[in-house]
Amino acid sequence: MAHAITLVPGDGIGPEVTDAVVRIIGATGVSIDWEPHAAGLLAFERSGESLPATLIDSIRRNTVALKGPVTTPIGQGFTSVNVGLRKALDLYANLRPVSNLPGVDARFQGLDLVIVRENTEDLYAGLEHEVVPGVVESLKIITEKASTRIAHFAFQHARRHGRTRVTAIHKANIMKLGDGLFLESIRRVAREYGEITYDERIVDAACMHLVMNPGQFDVLLLPNLYGDIVSDLCAGLVGGLGVVGAANLGAECAVFEAVHGSAPDIAGRQIANPTALLLSAVMMLRHIDEGNAADRIMQAVRAVLSARRVRTRDLGGTASTSEFADAVCRAI
Ligand code: NAI
Repeated sequence: MAHAITLVPGDGIGPEVTDAVVRIIGATGVSIDWEPHAAGLLAFERSGESLPATLIDSIRRNTVALKGPVTTPIGQGFTSVNVGLRKALDLYANLRPVSNLPGVDARFQGLDLVIVRENTEDLYAGLEHEVVPGVVESLKIITEKASTRIAHFAFQHARRHGRTRVTAIHKANIMKLGDGLFLESIRRVAREYGEITYDERIVDAACMHLVMNPGQFDVLLLPNLYGDIVSDLCAGLVGGLGVVGAANLGAECAVFEAVHGSAPDIAGRQIANPTALLLSAVMMLRHIDEGNAADRIMQAVRAVLSARRVRTRDLGGTASTSEFADAVCRAI
């Protein structure tokens, strides 16, 4: 039976990379009924809605979506589709595995760490207001409930995947109550997972350690904002935003998307690297029990990249998005 999956091409490079990934999944023979839905800036310009209710309904029904990036213009009047989607579907865990791919030059080799980012609160609650002219308050919300839930997610992920260490990243020296509560909640959960080493790092020092000696980390557990920033930093350690996939997971639904954004600087030129979204799609295939197809895609990507003949520009090559996809399809 075909899997019904919601597809959001998104903005900027989104349609180019989703096209490539849908084609590559097709080459494995896995049967998927894609349900395409618009979201983001383009959807807003067309229909006045950036996150249409029909899209949310489709994901609720299918429980799985593959999503391209969407643009969030800076300034007032357009709230983030990503934040809205994560809240609407309670996609509380953002999972971002960071590891090297063969043939991709990077500052470090042999890296294999996982970022677990709390996805529903912190400064992303979007609660901002002008107190008096010239003074704005942005509220950072941290709850025991969400911190405990994401901590269980991180430790369970570690346990299931044979990982031995979870490091919480925080700034509790300054945000004693907010980040303090995040840490206290995690410490309580950590006691239930005695076989996993637990430690803590202040976010600024953690960034320094990550760029000096990232091999010391295994699972990183962060509140929303630090998770967002540290994910891009970690992508930079293994070759950039074009090669890191991600998943947004909740109790009922899962939305798979890359770490990167809509990259307006390169949109419409067929030069984006579809590997990041492809790695997200591989996570999606494992999630829907199509592990065999996931393995075949990974083998093909590794073969194409390690041959170093067909590579997109971000990796030092000249291939277009679709030429890279063609090469992966041939390898499959
Ligand atoms: P970005 O991730 O779109 O781009 C940063 C840099 O990385 C750019 O130079 C871009 O060309 C490059 N890049 C990104 N993905 C690439 C790929 N697949 N292949 C080759 N190069 C790639 O970040 P930026 O410019 O800060 O954000 C642009 C827009 O995307 C904003 O509106 C932002 O809100 C949105 N965004 C959306 C996300 C999502 O939908 N999940 C996540 C992050 C940002």
